[in-house]
Amino acid sequence: MATQSPRPDASELSIRPMREADLAEAGQIVRLAFGTFLGVPDLESFWADRDYLRTRWHGKTGEGVVAEGDGRLVGSNFATVWGSFGFFGPLTIRPEFWDRGIAQRLLAPTMDIFAKCGVRESGLFTFAQSAKHVGLYQKFGYWPRYLTALMSKVVKGPSGAITKYSALRENDRAAALNESRKLTDSIFDGLDVSCEIRSVHQQNLGDTVLLWGGGSVEGFAVCHCGEGTEAGRGSCYIKFAAVPPGPHAPVAFERLLDACQSLAWERKTPRIQAGMNLSRVDAFLQMQARGYRTDVQGVAMHKPDLPGFNRPDVFVIDDWR
Ligand SMILES: CC(C)(COP(=O)(O)OP(=O)(O)OC[C@H]1O[C@@H](n2cnc3c(N)ncnc32)[C@H](O)[C@@H]1OP(=O)(O)O)[C@@H](O)C(=O)NCCC(=O)NCCS
Repeated sequence: MATQSPRPDASELSIRPMREADLAEAGQIVRLAFGTFLGVPDLESFWADRDYLRTRWHGKTGEGVVAEGDGRLVGSNFATVWGSFGFFGPLTIRPEFWDRGIAQRLLAPTMDIFAKCGVRESGLFTFAQSAKHVGLYQKFGYWPRYLTALMSKVVKGPSGAITKYSALRENDRAAALNESRKLTDSIFDGLDVSCEIRSVHQQNLGDTVLLWGGGSVEGFAVCHCGEGTEAGRGSCYIKFAAVPPGPHAPVAFERLLDACQSLAWERKTPRIQAGMNLSRVDAFLQMQARGYRTDVQGVAMHKPDLPGFNRPDVFVIDDWR
């Protein structure tokens, strides 16, 4: 009978904040862990064209934590803070260390980051079919609510002129960030994704398209485009998009989706990926009507067990992946 080689268990690890020097190894673990869980045949090339960690860390959209043992990293997690709302991930552990309580050692300080940053409600996106994943997060107070669909469509041409954050003058950029905050605050008290707009701009990950009228923002979409971003080669990923709630929301949402298509076309990344929580019924149906199809679906878990901005009146695109 094969004997297990001695490996550190959760109590022998050191848990500490993520540093820049951790990013390469932590990124490898992200690809290895997800690739293993999903059973992909070629782990070497899996997600080689996309990045979920480096861009978040450099963009200062939150804080990371790592677990270290025997002089190497064994896992990491990243807590994204969007004002009063936070979500975490990618949470990954080296496969040979699974089921030793290490993820739980990383989740405890993740909760501390949210508390320290004044996060009122938080969430995550996970595999709905995995009793382990759902059970693990329930231990930390998260509850599964609606499915989130990871959707995509191929764009065959531009859909009109667009206003891009990157093309605004400095003054207008500051105004656009303020306006974006006002808009998200009208959806969920204190929600603020301006860090994502800045992160995309500073790291040249893509662009933010704006429905910009007379100094006010009637909608915006933060998009990653291409290799080395959260989108991957040939793709434009709408990381977060929103229009104000109310009777004009469906029309504004349609215009925003047009603007995203034009950006994708301009950046030569014609596959658009966008996540939509199924509680946002009208927004989901609108995307389906435009030809978006669901590639994968998972479940959004919330803490506390409240809708947050996953509600029928909300026209937001995001997926907390
Ligand atoms: C998911 C992942 C991070 C978990 O890491 P881990 O270190 O193995 O997790 P832990 O050992 O800390 O916790 C496992 C917990 O799952 C829960 N669990 C496992 N099987 C369960 C089941 N059948 N029913 C309910 N809960 C279950 C338990 O709470 C268990 O902890 P406990 O035995 O101490 O009570 C790791 O497996 C991984 O990297 N997976 C691939 C990437 C991934 O899926 N990341 C998360 C995406 S949301």
